[in-house]
Amino acid sequence: MKIKSAVLGATGNVGQNFIAMLSAHPWFEIDALYASKDRDVYDSPWMSPLDIPDNINTLTIKKLDVKNIIDRGIKIVFSALPSKIAGEIESELQANGIAVFTNASPHRMSENVPIIIPEINSEHINIVPQGMAPLIANSNCTTSGLVLSLAPIADLGIERVIVSTYQSLSGAGYPGVPSLDIVNNILPFIKDEEIKIERETKKILGKFAGNSIMPHSMEVNASTFRVAVTHGHMESVFVDLSQVPDINDIYARFSEYRGDLIARELPSSPDKPIILHSNPMRPQPKLDVMAGRGMSVSIGSVKIKNRTLSFKLLVNNVIRGAAGGSVQNAELAYKAGIIK
Ligand SMILES: NC(=O)c1ccc[n+]([C@@H]2O[C@H](COP(=O)([O-])OP(=O)(O)OC[C@H]3O[C@@H](n4cnc5c(N)ncnc54)[C@H](OP(=O)(O)O)[C@@H]3O)[C@@H](O)[C@H]2O)c1
Repeated sequence: MKIKSAVLGATGNVGQNFIAMLSAHPWFEIDALYASKDRDVYDSPWMSPLDIPDNINTLTIKKLDVKNIIDRGIKIVFSALPSKIAGEIESELQANGIAVFTNASPHRMSENVPIIIPEINSEHINIVPQGMAPLIANSNCTTSGLVLSLAPIADLGIERVIVSTYQSLSGAGYPGVPSLDIVNNILPFIKDEEIKIERETKKILGKFAGNSIMPHSMEVNASTFRVAVTHGHMESVFVDLSQVPDINDIYARFSEYRGDLIARELPSSPDKPIILHSNPMRPQPKLDVMAGRGMSVSIGSVKIKNRTLSFKLLVNNVIRGAAGGSVQNAELAYKAGIIK
């Protein structure tokens, strides 16, 4: 029997991708969908890069109600709620024994909440207090791509990362950025985004030390732009290493990267978490955003100058950077036996 789950914020950008990913999931099934008000039909425009599920016309939406979630016997919630309301609701659900997998930011830096990318830091799941339902975050969408590119080179001594990001419109939710602000334009500011990338990167790549996580010592400097692309965040990354790297070793590390063993057993994990391109015109959102069903990060333009490695990457913000990352985390928690 599949595990009963619910999606919170089911009518939004991330919520839709949850519906698409869970509609044929081998372990989890959607029992209820919640948003800010009741709807008899699913009336949001379909924005996901995944196919519309066949049963979309039969879906109804309920006004979010924690008691209703508990009464229905739901075991897992996938949260795509706006940050300003997510924190309190997610804590209440966790306190009632419901496992929470969230895209929202309020809990990400909390002591008992790991930010997990199963390929990289599955052992961070051990900071979830014994006997409590897990509350597990996935990172900010841009960070998820960045850390996947840094994981294969982490043992080369990463001292400093400088990253400039070119982030798509779907990252701003629906309806998102006003059209007249973004047509023929690039916006040079995304609220709170730079500090999130800096903090979360260090936490995810940090060391699990018994019952806490010691953040990585690297310095991270991020700058963020909003660009008129539907899905997919591009990043230009410069990494200062403690030694001069060998270009062929770097190619091999990226192209052969598979991540932690346990991640390979999860249904939502891609065969190759990183796709390495030699053509300098790749990756591009138009061509590469669905690599690995949206779960692979695409990397190109790899260069070395002294101790600095540079490259460009593309991450699918709504799948790897949001819904897909959370579903993969729920699969990890289920496999680890902490969803009862
Ligand atoms: N978009 C991305 O690429 C991305 C990536 C990583 C993380 N995130 C995070 O994921 C979360 C969702 O982002 P999004 O892009 O999907 O936003 P969105 O498109 O604006 O969707 C927000 C969802 O929350 C619901 N909602 C709003 N107020 C509510 C309330 N008071 N009670 C219950 N439901 C409420 C909305 O329902 P109604 O339709 O009823 O208003 C809608 O379903 C945010 O915390 C965001 O920061 C987003």
